[in-house]
Amino acid sequence: MTHMHAPMQPSKLQNYNSTRGAEAYKSDYRRKLHRKLSDKRERALLTRYFAELGHQGTILDLPCGHGRLSDLLKKHCDRLIEADWSFTMVSLNHKDHGTDLRNYFRASALEVPLPDQSVDVVVSFRLSHHLETQALRERHLRELFRVAKKAVIVTWFSASSLKNMLRQVRVVLAGKKPKNVLRNQRVREMAEAAGFAQRHAVPLFWLGSGHVLGMFVRK
Ligand SMILES: C[S@@+](CC[C@H](N)C(=O)[O-])C[C@H]1O[C@@H](n2cnc3c(N)ncnc32)[C@H](O)[C@@H]1O
Repeated sequence: MTHMHAPMQPSKLQNYNSTRGAEAYKSDYRRKLHRKLSDKRERALLTRYFAELGHQGTILDLPCGHGRLSDLLKKHCDRLIEADWSFTMVSLNHKDHGTDLRNYFRASALEVPLPDQSVDVVVSFRLSHHLETQALRERHLRELFRVAKKAVIVTWFSASSLKNMLRQVRVVLAGKKPKNVLRNQRVREMAEAAGFAQRHAVPLFWLGSGHVLGMFVRK
């Protein structure tokens, strides 16, 4: 597997793939207030979404990272599949969470090595905003919709969020780098084209974050 399979900023990718970077990402969620708050909110929304979907046979968590959501997701399925491009993340996750009704593998979310509709629910948190082009962000979504039999739960950075609008001002005035965003309407259209209906698209926070947590259910 090459960087072609995980085309995010090389320095970020190297960081996620290093032991130090993987451990640092894990420890951020224990120490940093904004991480703890977003983790709490993501868990609350996920719990609400699974209350609607009910218990599942299989869930694919891609990218799983160090397994931040592993225990929560495991409660909602018989078998949890944890996958990430970073071998280090997968190893750390495996070490922390074990193999009881959990499988692990290394994979790119842009070319998922699984057949169409082969898992019940696909969860993909905090990857889209790392993908550097619109084409890659759309390819990521298409892969999730292809592999999911029943539902997709995914985060993206919303073009219409206040955080993105403020960034756009700084792009123009201060030469800052633009955010890797998607328009909510475009995500909904892509879901429809793949045979899914949008059930939820909820901002993580109205202020201070541009992330949206969406749930799409196959029609
Ligand atoms: C911000 S972390 C999110 C991890 C986890 N979903 C969470 O919310 O805690 C981003 C993860 O994406 C992984 N990654 C980067 N590019 C990827 C790709 N193309 N396919 C799969 N995983 C990728 C990184 O290795 C890293 O673990």
